[in-house]
Amino acid sequence: MNVTLRGRIGSAEAAPQLVDGTFVRDLIDLDAREVSLRVHHDREIFDIEMERIFAKSWLPLAHESEIPNPGDFVRRNAGQDSCLVVRREDGSIAVLLNACSHRGMTLCREEKGNSQTFKCPYHGWAFGKDGRFLGAPFEKQMYGDELRRAADDLHLVVAKTAMLGGMIFANWDQDAEDFEAYLGDFAWYLRAALERTNRGFEVIGPPQRQIMRANWKLLAEQLADGYHARALHQSAGDMGTLGHDAHDPASWGMVGINVSTPGGHTMRCIDTRLAYSFAGIGDTASVAERLAAVPPPGANADMVKQFSNNLSDGQMRLLADTPPLVMGLFPGTDFFMLMSVGGSDDGSHGPVMVARAWTPRSPELFEMLTWTLVERDAPPELREQTRLTTLRNFGISGFIEQDDAEAWQGIQKAVQGPVARRMTAKYQAKLGVTRPEGFEGGGDVYAGFSRDDAQWAWWKRYAQVMGA
Ligand code: FES
Ligand SMILES: [Fe+2]
Repeated sequence: MNVTLRGRIGSAEAAPQLVDGTFVRDLIDLDAREVSLRVHHDREIFDIEMERIFAKSWLPLAHESEIPNPGDFVRRNAGQDSCLVVRREDGSIAVLLNACSHRGMTLCREEKGNSQTFKCPYHGWAFGKDGRFLGAPFEKQMYGDELRRAADDLHLVVAKTAMLGGMIFANWDQDAEDFEAYLGDFAWYLRAALERTNRGFEVIGPPQRQIMRANWKLLAEQLADGYHARALHQSAGDMGTLGHDAHDPASWGMVGINVSTPGGHTMRCIDTRLAYSFAGIGDTASVAERLAAVPPPGANADMVKQFSNNLSDGQMRLLADTPPLVMGLFPGTDFFMLMSVGGSDDGSHGPVMVARAWTPRSPELFEMLTWTLVERDAPPELREQTRLTTLRNFGISGFIEQDDAEAWQGIQKAVQGPVARRMTAKYQAKLGVTRPEGFEGGGDVYAGFSRDDAQWAWWKRYAQVMGA
């Protein structure tokens, strides 16, 4: 009895209208590039988002290194639904709805573990780690052989799954576009960042889990906002991560390459030579020399030698000149990779390597998981430096994320007021597509000062999916 959710993201469905007669399209002015702040507040809008976006999107749930052995599982949320991410006997991954097919009881309440079967606490029906119905107590007395015959229909609901850089993504919508189509041109960038070495990434420990008092979009759209670095991240300047020249926008990571794709994925890459004062690389150095001199975050000179096995010349050049700082996948995933202080006593820079997933809980609450990524080949010192630098910059104890969360929560507070809700957020700073010569990456590429282009592309995708 596999549940199928019909309708594809972006498909032509009726334009949604709110009870006061407002169309969702009236809240997003595509010509003026402004968005009503009401989108962060109204329950009705939230409900439409859950149905049109989160029940039909590819969402990240776990890293495959969290469940290395058959029977290993973690319990996560995919959109509004609880699910189990399980390693099957053959090594493949199953994402199962955590609800018993008998009467819907939550099947498993453990955060993680290893189990060959999942037994429902209510009446005791049992399911295999691939979701198959195995049997029920007093089955003969209760049902004769009816359950046997209906076993296929009693299978737990299974999501579609895909993997990138070891992250496991799931989609409840059996009709959803496949994962590669969902990634589109963005796959080229993601693979450059996440599949650059022979053995790839694993995660350090379980993800941090936190609840944020803000609408989920305030995080998702901010990923493409380079403009806030100088003001909101003053603390990163004070601590020596950014802004070695207070008046130079490049040293604040505000100059480089931004990218957006029609699927609403966005990326900011900062110019290595301009952003990091410690870089000290000459203009004439080759790509290999530049990568060896300043490996992208999380890599060392040894790992850099593996890049050519896995990446194209264009991807290598991307990592050498403008390594991705933040890559946001619409609607609920990002990867942050930068060099920052916090991981060593002498104040030197270490890698911040983060994957995050967020799940809306209500219009003003979202839950976020934060994983620390590390190359499997990382030596112990680099691993420890990555762990500490990441923890001190992102997640619950991270000073960079605390800055960002100030903005999410500050806006959320403001929109509690009916007057503030009548205001709009504005995205008129436009650079336009300025693809550098010879740049191989796809999508719309904006090279130069980080303006609102990529961020507005995120809103255009949101508007499209919401039928606006
Ligand atoms: S609800 Fe699970 S066995 Fe009855
Ligand atoms: Fe930020």
